[in-house]
Amino acid sequence: MSDSPGATPADAAGDLAGRHFVLGLTGGVACYKAAELTRELVKAGATVQVVMTEAAEQFITAVTMQALSNRAVYTSPWDARAPNNMAHINLTREADAVLVAPASADFIAKLAQGRADDLLSLACLARPIGRCALLVAPAMNREMWAHPATQRNVAQVVADGAVVLGPASGDQACGEVGDGRMLEPDEIRDDVIAFFQPKVLAGRKVLVTAGPTYEPIDPVRGVTNLSSGKMGFAIARAAAEAGAEVTLVAGPVALPTPRGVARLDVRTAQQMHDAVLPLAPGHDVFVATAAVADWRPAQAAERKLKKADGHDAPTIAMAANPDILAAVARLPNAPYCVGFAAESHDLAKHARDKRVRKGVPLVVGNLGPATFGRDDNTLLLVDAQGEREMGPGTKLALARALVREIAQRLPVKDTA
Ligand code: CTP
Repeated sequence: MSDSPGATPADAAGDLAGRHFVLGLTGGVACYKAAELTRELVKAGATVQVVMTEAAEQFITAVTMQALSNRAVYTSPWDARAPNNMAHINLTREADAVLVAPASADFIAKLAQGRADDLLSLACLARPIGRCALLVAPAMNREMWAHPATQRNVAQVVADGAVVLGPASGDQACGEVGDGRMLEPDEIRDDVIAFFQPKVLAGRKVLVTAGPTYEPIDPVRGVTNLSSGKMGFAIARAAAEAGAEVTLVAGPVALPTPRGVARLDVRTAQQMHDAVLPLAPGHDVFVATAAVADWRPAQAAERKLKKADGHDAPTIAMAANPDILAAVARLPNAPYCVGFAAESHDLAKHARDKRVRKGVPLVVGNLGPATFGRDDNTLLLVDAQGEREMGPGTKLALARALVREIAQRLPVKDTA
């Protein structure tokens, strides 16, 4: 089994540990979100140097931004604090990215033209383009966003190498509704984290099942299990961060959908099966993390079972559910299949048996009762070559490591 460095991750330091950002604020009501964004970036381990345009200072003070970033804010190209008087050069030399959030229509126009008449636009132009990314989170009224001039400018900025985050659609400060809202701070943080992940699944399509299933007994009762869905959602997120197009088929869980992931909600094993089977052949990878109920009540009662009807302790006949993973693995054009084995004991033995029984190249074992609902986990990877432990680590860190392992095992894509 391959032993890639970093396959046993520890995520304690945060997803942006060691990263340095120049956070640029331009004029817009969304400046209020930049305060929260600064906290999110700092909490994720980054250092943040705030630069504000004159217009941004109309919306939020440098005092607030200094307090949150723990660094004196820069606002002017004539700032004498820089010993060489070249703040616009110095600022980006140590930065991994300039993140402009909010980016106004006017500022995007400046970027498109390469104008440099304030410190932030100067810094964007003077940044070392090969190693300091430009990430732009637009925020403006929907008409301004839709205007051909703005769309032309955005296209130019992207052609020049910038990455545009959002914008979102919804209620706007002006009272109108439409495209142009700045993404929420946690969405920008997650997009920034994703930007720095290696794109090992670029051009690949990944299908993931997650969560428990719920098998109804009657309209108010059912059979389910303790799966939280966290591992499957982490894998969907990690695959999307790695550049894959991801579809997540989720049982009943209340987890938020990872950014950029298409989600289909189902309830029963049969519904999960019926959603997955037609989709599977169009995918490169299928990761079955769902804790699918093996059995369902053979006949769900249409009306609530009442004690008065003689159902004091009913005997419920059960029927077997289809095995989704085994069915996908049997398809003639099956994707690369990864199974999970949640066990209470004899993990390695059960995982090995399951790999053979389900006919899949890779099974990932974990001790179910010890991990259900938690944010961390330990995994045992079992393939034809042998087995290896990964972790302990957060489910997200393990999911990223697993995604790298899967990417290494995929056949080279035939692009002919
Ligand atoms: N799985 C599935 N469909 C089922 C049952 C399981 O797709 N009806 C998948 C799970 O998503 C997981 C793998 O098969 O990837 C193993 O699931 P698990 O519940 O651990 O195994 P079972 O096949 O149910 O075997 P056992 O109950 O003996 O542990």
